[in-house]
Amino acid sequence: MRMPIFRGVKRWGFVISAVLLASLLLGACGEGSPSILDTAGPVASKEAGLFWFILWVATGVFVVVEAILIWSIVRFRERPNSPLPKQTHGNNAIEIAWTIVPSVVLFAVLIGTIYTMFSLSQPAGPTINVKVVAHQWWWEFDYENAHVTTADELVVPTGAVIHVDLQSQNVIHSFWVPQLTGKTDVVPGHNNTTWFKADQTGYFRGQCTEFCGLQHANMEFYVKALSQDDYQTWLRGQQLASQNSSNANAQAGKAYFMHNSCVGCHGIVGVNLQSFDATPPASQIGPNLTHFGSRRLIAGGVLQWDPSTCVVAGSGNNAHIVNQDSCNLYKWLHDPASVKPGNDMNIGPLSDTQIAQLVAYLESLT
Ligand code: CUA
Repeated sequence: MRMPIFRGVKRWGFVISAVLLASLLLGACGEGSPSILDTAGPVASKEAGLFWFILWVATGVFVVVEAILIWSIVRFRERPNSPLPKQTHGNNAIEIAWTIVPSVVLFAVLIGTIYTMFSLSQPAGPTINVKVVAHQWWWEFDYENAHVTTADELVVPTGAVIHVDLQSQNVIHSFWVPQLTGKTDVVPGHNNTTWFKADQTGYFRGQCTEFCGLQHANMEFYVKALSQDDYQTWLRGQQLASQNSSNANAQAGKAYFMHNSCVGCHGIVGVNLQSFDATPPASQIGPNLTHFGSRRLIAGGVLQWDPSTCVVAGSGNNAHIVNQDSCNLYKWLHDPASVKPGNDMNIGPLSDTQIAQLVAYLESLT
């Protein structure tokens, strides 16, 4: 006889595992969540092809093994008065079969893997070289031949092979753009490289995928794939020195930037950097801000940057941000240590006026 309490426990166990399983499955359906199966380029689509191949092989193995198991349970179940089953000690035919069949299956997986690796080793087509530097915790992108440096956003033209040199000055990170390319570790002192290609325009999320410290989860970036024409336009804009806005608040923000600790860590071409080719002083550990206004992320994606959410009004000592609570750049400059604990931006407290002027300046850096 079973105690009712055990029946209750069993039912709850079932409910809890069902909920956990469902949340696991539905958790993958978050809005805008990038999927390795929703591919936008040849590298990711070949990797997805290998994923499906291995999944089908594994499914076949599962179905066959479970079918044999269930058949054996039913066929050889204990019946009333059934005699002791025949005892066997070794069966050459069966043992050879269950050695050869898995070997063949694993060999098929090996062939599929090697085939995919080789078909991804030789990219064809026009190539753009980008040096990717992983910082704690944001990504720097140097287009060395084009004399452009940006952060958090890797802009590429569709159809071109993007060859990336992965470098880290600190710990091991990992470069991953699920819809475009699989993971490649970024190892200090070891130059890893990889490549990818975007077949369609779009905005593809990238993420550091090797635990690298406190803000590993906030080490995000985007690959922005543009048409060839749009890319060339973007590139020409990025090659220019920073804009000199005539807006009084932006000018006050620029003056603040130049005469305070900002210049120690951040370079702006035309302000404290001669050109994108000039080697920045070693102290400049923060992102190059020359075209900050054209980017979408703040500090490795801990916040989104949308100029329309930050309206600066007033001037001089009355400069202020109208919608302070919805302005992410205000939040960041007001208290970077609480927005992204552990980050390197050690600035003293700024007044709301100073922040408004800096926001006006940064917004003008398109
Ligand atoms: Cu960088 Cu995780």
